[in-house]
Amino acid sequence: MKHIFQKGKNPEKPTLLLLHGTGGNELDLLPLAGMIDHEASVLSVRGNVLENGMPRFFRRLAEGVFDEEDLVFRTKELNEFLNESAQKYEFERNQIIAVGYSNGANIAASLLFSYQHALKGAILHHPMVPRRGIELPDLSGKNVFIAAGTNDPICPPVESEELQSLLQNANAKVALHWENRGHQLTREEVEAAAEWYKGIIG
Ligand code: MLT
Repeated sequence: MKHIFQKGKNPEKPTLLLLHGTGGNELDLLPLAGMIDHEASVLSVRGNVLENGMPRFFRRLAEGVFDEEDLVFRTKELNEFLNESAQKYEFERNQIIAVGYSNGANIAASLLFSYQHALKGAILHHPMVPRRGIELPDLSGKNVFIAAGTNDPICPPVESEELQSLLQNANAKVALHWENRGHQLTREEVEAAAEWYKGIIG
């Protein structure tokens, strides 16, 4: 997968996996990594799917309607890419914290739903419930931060709460942060995510 890897100053820190929104690329979220942990290694990936020229991490049939078969395939592809990248760049495979926005948050949530050891934790900006009707792996020890908008037309508040409870029922620790905004990624929610991150990393 097309990506950028930046080796961090402190090898004890997690590796931040950046996953952009629809139409974005691997450059978009680099400033967020700096705000969350400027000493951490960064792996920023570009989605392999194109929708009218816009990069995404998996296909959709309509806005908010996912192509589930492609989502399963792309989630596996990303998980395998993480395995390969950990070897190639020599970072700890079990120390990856995803930072995703919108479509990128959705594939990060799909990694959590599909693979017990894909991520150590995740910061999800405006995620949806990636899949329904499946059994999640045991996510004990995983920490997840969800930033949601009370007026988000793409992800209604009830869906953010549903995602929180699905993850909690799988034993993840989940913080749900609200902004009185829509689907946009706000500086305030990134600052809140950075505070949360300090709390879990120490
Ligand atoms: C998705 O397709 O992942 C969601 O609708 C969010 C987005 O618009 O990217």
